[in-house]
Amino acid sequence: MTEIRIVKNKDDCHTIAQLANLIWHEHYTPIIGVDQVEYMLTKFQSPEAISTQIEDGYMYYIISHNQNLAGYLSIKKKNTSLFLSKIYVSKDLRGLGIGKTALNFIEQEAINNRCQSITLTVNRHNTHSIKAYEKLGFIKTGTVVQDIGQGYVMDDYTMERFL
Ligand SMILES: CC(C)(COP(=O)(O)OP(=O)(O)OC[C@H]1O[C@@H](n2cnc3c(N)ncnc32)[C@H](O)[C@@H]1OP(=O)(O)O)[C@@H](O)C(=O)NCCC(=O)NCCS
Repeated sequence: MTEIRIVKNKDDCHTIAQLANLIWHEHYTPIIGVDQVEYMLTKFQSPEAISTQIEDGYMYYIISHNQNLAGYLSIKKKNTSLFLSKIYVSKDLRGLGIGKTALNFIEQEAINNRCQSITLTVNRHNTHSIKAYEKLGFIKTGTVVQDIGQGYVMDDYTMERFL
């Protein structure tokens, strides 16, 4: 059984940071290289950075599967869309339907917040996740390159799922 619970305190932020450290190294090193992974982990997924994002309105959730830590997600309402900022499932638990359950949860949050769609950005070379998003009802809507400092960029597709 998959359970999703909101991040409430500093310990939870540390749990997310640890999960991010494991999952991002494993998943993103072949895509963007270890230096950019470490730069982005420090900038966006340290416990302090996560706390600041929560103060700025991002909602973080911990995902468990059969009572084991399985991943995390983050969302924020932006105008009439719910922005899916992050969704990460541990490698050994992918393909079991956890992402789909998480998306059903996110869809319900979008409906509760009177949103018309769910939007996200995904690295243009993150091929497996793009395929999963397409299976989950997202379509590509464009591309965006964001300068994140120190010579690094995020080279993404924008995707949207209409409710
Ligand atoms: C993207 C991700 C969150 C999906 O979670 P998941 O638990 O693996 O997804 P599910 O098992 O619920 O699969 C959802 C759908 O996508 C499909 N799918 C999953 N992985 C796929 C892959 N590699 N290729 C093609 N389809 C895939 C599944 O078959 C399923 O479709 P179906 O309902 O028609 O059967 C997960 O794979 C992940 O964490 N990836 C690595 C991190 C990442 O890149 N996150 C996104 C950052 S923007």
